[in-house]
Amino acid sequence: MMIKKSEFITSAVKPSQYPEDNRLEVAFVGRSNAGKSSLINTVTNRRNLAKTSSTPGKTRLINFFLINDDFYFVDLPGYGFAKVSKSEQEKWGGMMEAYLVNRTQLKKIALLVDSRHKPTKEDVQMYEWIKYYGYEAIIVATKSDKLKRNDFNKNKKTIRETLNIKPEDKFIFFSALNKEGKEELIDLLLEGVSQENE
Ligand code: GTP
Ligand code: MG
Repeated sequence: MMIKKSEFITSAVKPSQYPEDNRLEVAFVGRSNAGKSSLINTVTNRRNLAKTSSTPGKTRLINFFLINDDFYFVDLPGYGFAKVSKSEQEKWGGMMEAYLVNRTQLKKIALLVDSRHKPTKEDVQMYEWIKYYGYEAIIVATKSDKLKRNDFNKNKKTIRETLNIKPEDKFIFFSALNKEGKEELIDLLLEGVSQENE
């Protein structure tokens, strides 16, 4: 499958600001700095569609990108970013919950974890949340360009076991830098979402 066209549509903090058509959605969640915005840029072949930064906490709003005039990619703000006040954390929780609960057009969620590290408690909680609300998940282990060849199996096992990944969910290594996993990831993201069958 292919991504031929991508455009930023809108940023939202609450449901009344979400796009109002009923196009299907794929959302990207994960720790701040895990690489969500970079991933969106890589799979859309755009340098700067989603804003990225080496400072965690770049994405603060829910950003909707229309793909192939057909469905949305939804870039969500990351969690686990140390320099966030209690009130900001609560704002984040409220914003995420409002989006994730009852979003009927949301078809699947890509959960990004840094492939070098054991998933955090918050990652585990996020995955449990995704499953509790009945969404299909794709676990994306990012920044795989930083791994040595013999770390792959070991780290995959740690991530699988820590998150307790369900058999129906997918796992993939990905790098925005060397594009590892790009084509396979696009297929996973678009399957059952894109109207195009290639
Ligand atoms: P928030 O918006 O804060 O939630 O972060 P994010 O998950 O959107 O992360 P972002 O895409 O902004 O990337 C964070 C940092 O990681 C940036 O400095 C990126 O250049 C870097 N990065 C992202 N993907 C990769 C990757 O595949 N490999 C390497 N080496 N660095 C990456
Ligand atoms: Mg971001």
